[in-house]
Amino acid sequence: MIDEPWRGGERPTSPTSPTSMVRCDGVVQIYRARDVEVVALRDVDLVIDAGETVALLGPSGAGKSTLLWLLAGLLRPSAGRLWLDGVEVGRLDQRRLDRLRARRIGTVLQNPARNLIGYLPAAQNVAFAQRAVRRDRGRVRELLRRVGLDDAGNRPANRMSGGEQQRLALAVALANAPALLLADEPTSQLDAASGARVIELIKHAAQADGTTAVVVTHDVAVSEALSRTVTIRDGRVGSEGRRGEDLVVVGREGAVQVPPEFHHLLPPGSMARIEPLDDGIVLRRAGS
Ligand SMILES: Nc1ncnc2c1ncn2[C@@H]1O[C@H](COP(=O)(O)OP(=O)(O)O)[C@@H](O)[C@H]1O
Ligand SMILES: [Mg+2]
Repeated sequence: MIDEPWRGGERPTSPTSPTSMVRCDGVVQIYRARDVEVVALRDVDLVIDAGETVALLGPSGAGKSTLLWLLAGLLRPSAGRLWLDGVEVGRLDQRRLDRLRARRIGTVLQNPARNLIGYLPAAQNVAFAQRAVRRDRGRVRELLRRVGLDDAGNRPANRMSGGEQQRLALAVALANAPALLLADEPTSQLDAASGARVIELIKHAAQADGTTAVVVTHDVAVSEALSRTVTIRDGRVGSEGRRGEDLVVVGREGAVQVPPEFHHLLPPGSMARIEPLDDGIVLRRAGS
């Protein structure tokens, strides 16, 4: 690391592991529109270490895109604390946050066209994303090749199909060899072969550049290829999966979300009896 002017000497004071790329501490996100308030995230606690690849799962409206926007530095939390790359976002003025984003973060938003400058040719879109780092034409060509757009370098982004735009958006997000890659459903418009390319590219970035990736996805092929899953339900981290094992998360106030696959045994709204064991508890449906 040569030059990190955005840090301004402001290391977090809490005991954050030096390798954590993301840390959320009681993060709350509230959207205010006229007289309605939507609580999109409530008390999210999450630590993601450098080099991890995380699939962010959950039903529609759960808060996945909101969390991604926060990790991208595009939103600031309504409450709670958020660290990105070891720096607390709340301590950064807008200029420093913009610099952190341009140098260290790559983002693929849900709508592919929003990631691109429509009138610019594909290769120039990728090159433009290197404006805050050292320009690297070889990397531009290599990324276009890896997303299968080697022959499309001169084509303006707005003359590409949705699927091509989605692949180009990933090349743009990786142009600056980001420490943190955030991608919102990056394979939603791709066939299986193009989807596999995208997965390979994310894994390659993690291996070659140490890029930490957080990918919102409904695509099983994507979530299975990444090292960890985090499931968001109703604005909270409900469960996590690592190496094939799914674990529920006990929240701040002791709340546990029963995963949908067990709703037939313990339906939402039912009452349960708690029985302590030496190493935990069991929940048994009460009454009836
Ligand atoms: N800009 C916004 N203004 C108001 N409410 C929003 C806005 N964006 C998202 N929401 C609401 O926040 C909640 C979480 O949305 P979102 O993060 O997009 O969920 P997901 O990506 O999991 O589908 C939803 O109830 C959604 O309607
Ligand atoms: Mg979304």
